[in-house]
Amino acid sequence: MKISERLGRVEYAIRDIILHAREYQKTGKKIIYLNIGDPVAFDFKTPTHIKNALIDALTHDNDYYTDSEGWPELRQSIVEKESKKKGLALTPEDVLVTNGVSEGLDMVMGSIIEDNDEILLPGPYYPPYASYAKFYGGNINEFKILDDGTPDLDDLRSKINRKSKAICLINPNNPTGEVFDLKSLKSVIDIASENNLYIICDEIYDGIVFDSGFYGIGKVAKDAPVVLLNGFSKTYSMTGLRCGYICINNDSRQLDSLRRNIFKLARVRIASNFPVQIAANAALNGPQDHINEMVQKLRKRRDLVSKRLNEFNGVHCKKPKGAFYVFPEIDLSSKWKTDLEFVIDMLNSTGVLTVHGSGFGNDGSKHFRIVYLPEENMLEEAMDKIDLFLKRAL
Ligand SMILES: Cc1ncc(COP(=O)(O)O)c(C=O)c1O
Repeated sequence: MKISERLGRVEYAIRDIILHAREYQKTGKKIIYLNIGDPVAFDFKTPTHIKNALIDALTHDNDYYTDSEGWPELRQSIVEKESKKKGLALTPEDVLVTNGVSEGLDMVMGSIIEDNDEILLPGPYYPPYASYAKFYGGNINEFKILDDGTPDLDDLRSKINRKSKAICLINPNNPTGEVFDLKSLKSVIDIASENNLYIICDEIYDGIVFDSGFYGIGKVAKDAPVVLLNGFSKTYSMTGLRCGYICINNDSRQLDSLRRNIFKLARVRIASNFPVQIAANAALNGPQDHINEMVQKLRKRRDLVSKRLNEFNGVHCKKPKGAFYVFPEIDLSSKWKTDLEFVIDMLNSTGVLTVHGSGFGNDGSKHFRIVYLPEENMLEEAMDKIDLFLKRAL
């Protein structure tokens, strides 16, 4: 039977590459998975106080439907974090709790995109932004990031046209680990405001920043139409629990219509997981030292991987400032036609599974993404294998 044409526009390189890994697995050889950014799959387990809150919630029968907009206590705690600490103007009524940032992104895109609208994104970008935009009939227009990690504002301006609907920022970025400074955030906001564009900012990696301080978009949002997405998967190691949220800048009158209507989507899907919201509330109000411990461990792994990669034939790797990915450039020479071919060849020759850069948009081509969450010994093993593979290939 026929399926919708729009379903054909959906892709997700990070998981789509697993189909190749399944083929490789049939040979019985070991795979080193460096493709999915799931801290819980490695040595970053969900902190005990968060797990206990979840268990307590079930023990006390708090597993019924809760408010569609989110559990009021969690919405209040989100206001404490995103407004009092990070500066975005919010009341609990501006917060919508979702089953992960992914659901929040789906709701926001579904609420604003109409046929042929364009979403501007700095490339390379996290693929669901393109998939959801296309699913709802829109398209993606990438703008450049300069070598110093700041957005190319002239390029951004040149890409704005009648169809432009929103600028999306992922800060810190997946896949590059780039972190925007305040000046860059402010410039992007000014350009968006001048052109009546939504600003959708994903700060899911806000706790995982290495060298410079991190500033959320709330610090410079003022009355601009800023919609913030955030969640618990990464900083709180709660990937499988599925909890995130949408915050709608209370000071923006341009967002009044979105604020009035997006909750319809929340009601139609009833509510997000109540016991998990209780655990998320414990995450925000409990000890935060696990975040610093995570960052210390990740910094060592980042340094190890970027140093090793830069020693290899044909590889150039920028040191990421946040998140847990490196995105090296690879000299494909005449050996591989595309970065996908490179990644598949590397998988079949070494068992190391990474993701092809073009899966993160046009600006990602000739790159590949490595997740550096594993412990040092596994990372060293993967690096040795990649080194040998490149020495033989190039
Ligand atoms: C930038 C970004 N946003 C959202 C997500 C998904 O978040 P969640 O697990 O809350 O759905 C990811 C996961 O890799 C991500 O990198």
